[in-house]
This record gives sequence, structure tokens and C-alpha cells, in this order.
Amino acid sequence: MTRHLLQLEGLDEHQLSALLDRADALLPVARREAPASKSLSGRLVAHLFFEDSTRTRLSFETAAARLGARSIVLTENGSSTSKGETFLDTALNVEALGVDAIVVRTGLSGGPQLLARHVACPVINAGDGRHEHPTQGLLDCLTIRRSCGAIKGATVAIVGDIANSRVARSAVHALTTLGAHVRLIGPPTLLPASLKQLTPHPDRVTISHDLDSNLGDLQAIMMLRVQLERAAGGAIGSDYRIQFGLTRERASRLPASCIVMHPGPVNRGVEVDDDVADDRRRSQILSQVTHGVAVRMAVLEHCLEAGQAPRAG
Ligand code: NCD
Repeated sequence: MTRHLLQLEGLDEHQLSALLDRADALLPVARREAPASKSLSGRLVAHLFFEDSTRTRLSFETAAARLGARSIVLTENGSSTSKGETFLDTALNVEALGVDAIVVRTGLSGGPQLLARHVACPVINAGDGRHEHPTQGLLDCLTIRRSCGAIKGATVAIVGDIANSRVARSAVHALTTLGAHVRLIGPPTLLPASLKQLTPHPDRVTISHDLDSNLGDLQAIMMLRVQLERAAGGAIGSDYRIQFGLTRERASRLPASCIVMHPGPVNRGVEVDDDVADDRRRSQILSQVTHGVAVRMAVLEHCLEAGQAPRAG
């Protein structure tokens, strides 16, 4: 793995497991059961968020703080992009400030790759358009590994707007590489059959347009938000919840040990019913958030080669 984290596609089992192992080891810090580390003391991380974010942005900032690094944040609202400055120029100027890493979220699929070709510091993708959301994929894997014991051999359903979901793309790459079977489930308009070819392991992916017949043997079910901002609205019917929502009745047909996941933000009463989202026996939605801090600590450490002295000047 390079010092950038741009996508999970292409990372092998060993590289993914090493990041998950490190995140697992850092989890007590994320949970505030162990003291914060100083491994990135003196480092400065820039967080460029050109799309809205609650969890991911605060999670990266929290992770940097728990490693002793400082953060600066730029959001699209209030930046000079409104004056016509390009995405790349903005990043080059941020690098010229002397930052040690750039965390970036953008609506432009491939935007982080573009930056990584032009800046010298590590670039970490915090979600790019419909492409990938690698730290979300890692935190989803950590959640399944910790709750289910192992990823290899687990059957995981990902339900909803797969076509527009960077979360699904990163999860499919990581989960299939680590030996899980992934069931992609959604309406045909949001789940083209070509998505089976997303991974080098298409034999570990099945596609279904019927949620009801796929509930009985799952270890984990990951519900996705319909990405209205990516024009998915026209592709769903008003009966979305009836067909693809994880209602209380459907949840009762899951195996007792099956966990419920969602990357957030949750549209309660659409993709997940209140009772299911709030069921602390099954729902891992808040644990995913804590796991995200540990994962981002592991990624920042890796990309910034923790322990080395900050660059002179
Ligand atoms: C997701 C995102 O922004 O890609 N959320 C997240 O990062 N936790 C998914 C979404 O917005 O639905």
C-alpha cells in the first residue's frame, strides 16, 4: 500500500488485515479506555470537505486529535471555490501551507486520485462521488469481524441504492477480498447486473431484487440510504419501504445473531424502521461510528508513517 489511501480496490488480504488489526489495537483509545497516543504529535492534517458530512469529518478530526496531530478544516461553504478556484488549485494551495496530509471528500469520482498525482503529501479519500469510501469500507469490515468473529465465510447483505453508493463499492471490494459472500439487494433501477463485476471475485457476489427471500441466513445486513443528491430519486417508487425497508417484521425473520448496519445518515422509516435502528441487541450503527475513529487512526498513522519526525520547516 502506498502512503495514500485512495480506494480499497486493489488492496490485498494482507494489506486490509494489517489495517484492521491496527484499528483493533487502537480501539481502546477510540473508546477512551486507553490514553490518547502522541504518535502524530507535531503533524498537521488538512480536512477538505466539499460535500456534506457529519460522521466522517468529525471522525477524521477525532482520530487526528487522539494521535496528537492538529487539524485544519475547509468546507465548500465559505471557501474560494465559490469564486471559481478549482478543486486542484485549492488542494495545491492547502499543501503549500505546509500540511502533512490531506483528507478529502468530493462529489468528483476520482478527485482524490487527481490530487494524489499532483501533491507530495499523503492523500486520504473520505468519499469521492459514486466511486469509493475506503475508510467506511474498513470500518464496516472491522464491525463485522468484531461482531461475527470472522469475515471469511460470512454472508453479508448490502441493501438499497447500490448503483450510487461509494459505501457499497468499498465494502464489496474489502469483504470479497477477505473471503465473505456478499449479496447485493435492491430494485433493478438501483442495482444493475453489471455490478457483479465490481470485484475480482464475482463468484463471491450474488445479485437479487427480492429482500424477503434473502433474510434467513445472514450474519450481517447493511442498509444504505437512497442517494437523492445523486439523482437516485427518480429511480425509486413510493413503495420503497414496503419492498426494501428493514421493517420490524423483516428484522424478526433475520437469524438472532445477525447484526444490522448502516453508514448513516439514517432515513428512519424509509430504509430502516425506528425499532430496528434502535435495537441495541442487533444494531451496530453507533458501534460503526466508534470503529470509524479507530480505523481512521490506523489509516492516518499508516499514511503519515507515525513516529517519524515532522518534515523540517
Ligand atoms: C455515506 C457517505 O457520505 O458516503 N455516509 C458516511 O460517510 N457515513 C453514505 C450516505 O451518505 O448515505
